[in-house]
Amino acid sequence: MITIKNLNKFYGSTKVLNDISIDIKEGEIFAIVGHSGAGKSTLLRCINGLEDYSDGSLRVNDKEIKTLDKNNLREFRKKIGMIFQHFSLIQRKTVYENVALPMQLWGYKKSEIDKKVNDLLALVGLENKLNSYPSQLSGGQKQRVAIARALTLDPEVLLSDEATSALDPNTTTSILNLLKEINEKLNITIVIVTHEMEVVKQIAQKALLLEHGNIIGFDDTEELFLKPDEKMKHFLGESEVVPAQGINIKLYFPKDNAYQSFITKMARELDMDFNIVWGKLEEINTHIVGNMVINIDEVNQQKVIDYIKEHDIVWEVL
Ligand SMILES: Nc1ncnc2c1ncn2[C@@H]1O[C@H](COP(=O)(O)OP(=O)(O)OP(=O)(O)O)[C@@H](O)[C@H]1O
Ligand SMILES: [Mg+2]
Repeated sequence: MITIKNLNKFYGSTKVLNDISIDIKEGEIFAIVGHSGAGKSTLLRCINGLEDYSDGSLRVNDKEIKTLDKNNLREFRKKIGMIFQHFSLIQRKTVYENVALPMQLWGYKKSEIDKKVNDLLALVGLENKLNSYPSQLSGGQKQRVAIARALTLDPEVLLSDEATSALDPNTTTSILNLLKEINEKLNITIVIVTHEMEVVKQIAQKALLLEHGNIIGFDDTEELFLKPDEKMKHFLGESEVVPAQGINIKLYFPKDNAYQSFITKMARELDMDFNIVWGKLEEINTHIVGNMVINIDEVNQQKVIDYIKEHDIVWEVL
């Protein structure tokens, strides 16, 4: 649905996006991750046509964005909703008025607006806050209003720029769950920009890692966390310290694999004790994935590797 090929973007003589090529599929929840200044927001603004790109191609539903004239761009942007870290609500307008605004600007009938606003406020769980003002709402509630407002024109894509960065962890989870629900119920493609790995793990099916405008990772979220390459490890600030003695084998447990029983079963069947050096299990997209490093005597290496292979476990010797 969104296809970016060899995209470059300069601000003056500074290159802020370098040779970006990605593909975002319809219905996907896609994350753009990176530290401050990586170019995340710039890429997002290119996607919604707010920002021009120097060269390369950026197509949304097969339309090359930079070829759109003013009217077409306006129509195009109607189909893209956007939410931000600081909600961008109008303080002197009520919740209802804030959500109604985009439809009023596009000249919808009052009855249509009324139905849509009420439906959306029910969807985000704020049907009883219609007449409140933003100052009377919590951060999470303000973001819910912003989400409802972003959905009024039936967008095909929802772009989110650090929408949970100003929220506490529990509120973040509830907003991410709402985004998931919207993605599933309304079949809206969601692109989220974040610097928080927790957000990626909780919601994204696919992620792009940006560093100084360069792609340093682009894969299914589970793959990125399950088998991080050197760049990803560096990004996560993770270093693997393993014993110098014996053989260290790293096992990767994909989703749905009974990792605990595998280790105990292997110990029992091979009649061997393993030293578990470290293990990390994480919940990604509601699946448990993880990896574990075991340390074994060199004499047992072949036996253990044969056993692991028989059980279709991904592994490597460190
Ligand atoms: N309008 C602008 N003019 C000049 N340089 C800009 C402009 N906007 C962004 N930049 C530069 O482009 C680079 C990428 O900025 P961008 O805002 O995309 O980063 P980001 O990944 O969203 O960071 P953050 O996490 O802090 O929001 C930065 O070096 C920034 O200083
Ligand atoms: Mg940003």
